[in-house]
Amino acid sequence: MSVHKNVKRVTTHVLHEMKENGEKISMLTGYDYSMARILDTAGIDVILVGDSASNVMAGHETTLPITLDQMIYHASSVVRAVERALVVVDMPFGSYQGNSKEALSNAIRIMKESGGHAVKMEGGQEIIESISRILTAGIPVMGHLGLTPQSIYKFGTYVVRAKEEEEADRLIEDAKALQEAGCFAIVLEKIPAKLAARVAKEVSIPIIGIGAGNGVDGQVLVAHDMLGINNEFNPRFLRKYHNLFEEMLGSFQRYIEDVRRGDFPNENEQY
Ligand code: KIV
Repeated sequence: MSVHKNVKRVTTHVLHEMKENGEKISMLTGYDYSMARILDTAGIDVILVGDSASNVMAGHETTLPITLDQMIYHASSVVRAVERALVVVDMPFGSYQGNSKEALSNAIRIMKESGGHAVKMEGGQEIIESISRILTAGIPVMGHLGLTPQSIYKFGTYVVRAKEEEEADRLIEDAKALQEAGCFAIVLEKIPAKLAARVAKEVSIPIIGIGAGNGVDGQVLVAHDMLGINNEFNPRFLRKYHNLFEEMLGSFQRYIEDVRRGDFPNENEQY
């Protein structure tokens, strides 16, 4: 069924080797079976079942409303499609902050019920207890520092983070703390390229950037954004590989016209 039969699966160990060998890691979001099939067939290294599903799939203004059950639903759809990529699942807002025992049982639910391969959590030293407890169960954890969208109401805006020395220093300390705790990789979102490159040099685990320049070990984008499905989101860091909003709009409009004119279905399209 797939071009990836007998292909070596991407594991956290493979990602470490890629960093050591200077090979860049590719990561994109995926929330459903059909998109994940295409991503995996294309050879993507990591599929992130991001809580950005809250924006992209459900139309919420922030990532905060998405629930653990909804994340598990999206992740299980992705896992069914994948033969090669590592599937990382975002722990949603409220599922790991505060109580590390609850964090562990929520991470276990994600792993058991979705079949995902790892979880991702936003934050540094303030969530280290939850990260450590989850790691004790053998669940790989990816960190996420810089702009952490689950804290949008604390930040107030989605502007670049860690431009000032104090925040930059704290971010470096957080990255080292995440590595020490046992995280297998860290996402750095929307921070100065120089700072991201410095973090990638100072830690041995892979650093995956989004809006963090090219001096890191890999890149991640939201697939719907790079495909141009969402035509209202145009930050500087986003490279658009398509304008699917316009393409899909055109197809839907042609279909509507065909139906209205009685042109669809024709004789060859019926029984
Ligand atoms: O939820 C998400 O899509 C993310 C990426 C932006 C890294 O966390």
